[in-house]
Amino acid sequence: MCGSDMKPVRKAVFPVSGLGTRFLPATKAMPKEMLPVVDMPLIQYAVAEAVAAGIKEMVFVTGRTKRAIEDHFDYYPELERELEEKGKDDLLELVRNIVPAGVKCVYVRQPQPLGLGHAVLCAKPVVGSEPFAVILPDDLIDAENSGIGQLTAVREAQGGGAVIAVQDVAPEDTNKYGIVSVDDQGCQTSQMRGIIEKPDPKVAPSRMAVIGRYVFEPKIFDYLEKVKPGVGGEIQLTDAIAASLDQIPTFAHRFEGTRFDCGSKQGFIDATVHFARKRGFKIN
Ligand code: G1P
Repeated sequence: MCGSDMKPVRKAVFPVSGLGTRFLPATKAMPKEMLPVVDMPLIQYAVAEAVAAGIKEMVFVTGRTKRAIEDHFDYYPELERELEEKGKDDLLELVRNIVPAGVKCVYVRQPQPLGLGHAVLCAKPVVGSEPFAVILPDDLIDAENSGIGQLTAVREAQGGGAVIAVQDVAPEDTNKYGIVSVDDQGCQTSQMRGIIEKPDPKVAPSRMAVIGRYVFEPKIFDYLEKVKPGVGGEIQLTDAIAASLDQIPTFAHRFEGTRFDCGSKQGFIDATVHFARKRGFKIN
């Protein structure tokens, strides 16, 4: 696969069907992806990152209680009319640009919480035979260049294949992440030789942890269809990647930017402080 034959990445999949139990009671009736960092919901940061990478179709894999996500990215004529009549042009612009022109949103349901790999597989009918991105909104990335855009650039430079974002983590934290082994740990981009989900620090092949940004060839669906439940009894995306490494060239890329683990309260608070400071708010 090279040159003009290579299809660009035009679709991004957002697995958003998780229950968000770590943020109860806030997430009892509200999707955790709608929690705002300053004034923008987490999911909108993720969509903005995809838009900045030139992605045109956003595929949300949702579940029960996630309607607010659909509403957030939907057209709201009454609100727009009201803002227009009151001359609140800045707010009108803000609301209109939640989904920029030319960007489409599609929703598919994951009927049962069978794991991240299963959630991605639910997007297969919409993704079809195109390369695609996967963005986990819990991992919030602040970067000069779109996090996912950095991965699509690597894919282009490599002439195709899969690309996965990685970051070094503390040795005791390997059991919270997918951990990879690569040809050359000293390189920013290196071909992946192995990947294992949440290994105990004693057996982890490295400290290079997967952060929730991936670019895949559509062939990954073949592996997702075959993969058996793994860690936690769930269909793991990591296991499908591991099974595909012989057939699909896969690269680990140390992206540039700051990542916040908004799946944890500490990470969410760190992100809030970071973005609040950036926006000029005082933190006493
Ligand atoms: C998922 C993936 C894991 C990855 C992590 C990144 O785990 O399974 O490989 O390192 O996202 O945030 P989760 O955090 O959903 O348990």
